[in-house]
Amino acid sequence: MNTEIKQDPVIYSKYLEQELRSDHAGETGAVYIYKGIIAVAILRKDQELINFAQHHGATETEHLKLIESVFEKKYRSHLLGPWRLAGWLTGAIPALFGRKAVYATIDAVETFVEKHYQQQIDYLKQQGSHERLLELLLRCQADEIAHKNEARLKASNSLPAILRLWCALVGGGSAGAVLLARQI
Ligand SMILES: [Fe+2]
Ligand SMILES: [Fe+2]
Repeated sequence: MNTEIKQDPVIYSKYLEQELRSDHAGETGAVYIYKGIIAVAILRKDQELINFAQHHGATETEHLKLIESVFEKKYRSHLLGPWRLAGWLTGAIPALFGRKAVYATIDAVETFVEKHYQQQIDYLKQQGSHERLLELLLRCQADEIAHKNEARLKASNSLPAILRLWCALVGGGSAGAVLLARQI
């Protein structure tokens, strides 16, 4: 079933086109992060983690639909398959190590996403254009901040070194993915 919300196509500057391509890729990856978490949490019979991931995953699906409603298919990343896989692994790998690892990972991802959206929000406010897009980004960012805060509360304060390293990798990987998704 095609659930895309149909809107008149909007013309974006090259900069916004690239940013939206990375947003679309990122929200695609986010949906798959939670699919990866759920797959492992089911195996581990961890109902708390399943509930957490289902709740967050539903919001990410909403974000993806929102971005799709303002960003035409022909401009989207050609690497959506790899973004899905990368997302899935970003969720599934920490889930193998338990809830705390997942919460720390989500904290790292959302900390990155919050800043990523902030740059675009600043740009749009400065330009005074694309009001609808600005509203959409503010709404998504508010959700990401809520996700980050919830995950941070649930994660332990003192993360083991290996988990800190993993989170740094996830942050760096997200930045690399954005650079790539802007282009292709
Ligand atoms: Fe999102
Ligand atoms: Fe999120």
